[in-house]
Amino acid sequence: MREWTRAFPAQLRSGFAAGRALEFRWPRGVDRSVVVGMGGSAIGADLLRSLTDAETDLLVQPVREPTLPRWVGPSTLAVAVSYSGDTWETLAAFDVAGRRGAPRVAVSSGGRLQQLARAEGVPHLMVPPGLQPRAALGSLLGGLLGLFDPAFPASNRDRLDRASKVLLMGADELGGAAGPPTRLAARIRGRLPWICSSEELAPVARRWATQIEENAKRLAHWDALPESLHNVLVAWDALTRREAERYFVVRLQGAGDDQALRDRFEYLSKLLAGRKVPVATVRFEASDRLERTLSAIQWGDYLSLALAELGGVDPFPVEAIQRMKHRLEKDHKSRNTIDDR
Ligand code: F6R
Repeated sequence: MREWTRAFPAQLRSGFAAGRALEFRWPRGVDRSVVVGMGGSAIGADLLRSLTDAETDLLVQPVREPTLPRWVGPSTLAVAVSYSGDTWETLAAFDVAGRRGAPRVAVSSGGRLQQLARAEGVPHLMVPPGLQPRAALGSLLGGLLGLFDPAFPASNRDRLDRASKVLLMGADELGGAAGPPTRLAARIRGRLPWICSSEELAPVARRWATQIEENAKRLAHWDALPESLHNVLVAWDALTRREAERYFVVRLQGAGDDQALRDRFEYLSKLLAGRKVPVATVRFEASDRLERTLSAIQWGDYLSLALAELGGVDPFPVEAIQRMKHRLEKDHKSRNTIDDR
């Protein structure tokens, strides 16, 4: 898993090149899209959306279920992403998109999705096989950025190259035995990591939590400000001393956070200090949104590995997911369709 984490910047670059090179022409009149996927294959869609929302006129709606929004039809691009190519929810949504007449693209390392795409004449973006889906984020996100590149005012190629270089330079320090993620893991110890960010970095906070869940095999939670001040705040406020011992808040601070947001984080931090909940702030100062997002992803991936090491668990296997798929998907093996009325 460490090697794959190290390969993140290289994956991003080759994924981007593959996405750009895919034989696919954006259909005329398409101004919205859905990107369907689950788990490690879904997070790339959130990260893409955070960029397209800020920089393009295109709507990118991530979907994590077999049902598609009602507005998906011939003028919506539907991209199905499944690393294995065999995830039931994604295959079912791919089928629904086809029946609705939506132009489609499939992304996988093989599997049924590749077969279906070939049989139905749908462009298929191949990502390198043999990884854990969550460890292929560089290839999947890079591929999406390549595919969606024409929607941006200028190509993201140079920007991605620059960001990849920064990530490569940071890998030694971040992955090192005395690196900042290892030190933070030692502070978190047995407490539940509660990852808190701006809306901009919310997909990153989500990735931190899911990587901790899958790699370190322990619960984690994420939320974003300002929304959490309108609900979660009440529960933090009511926390007892004893309960406070269970949590560790990690604040992701980005250069994109404006003064209003900083004031709100300050307010929350003071309240948490009053309740004796430890808070650590990790800063991502890059002025480029893409670079700070990717740096924050890399940081969290290393933190999840450090927490796995601390807990003496192997980050690689996710047997619970495999058992769930085996149990629930066997009924759907020959029928990747759902009622779509
Ligand atoms: C495993 C992982 C999972 C999978 C999910 C969907 O590493 O991250 O969250 O991504 O079970 O499977 P795929 O990605 O093959 O469609």
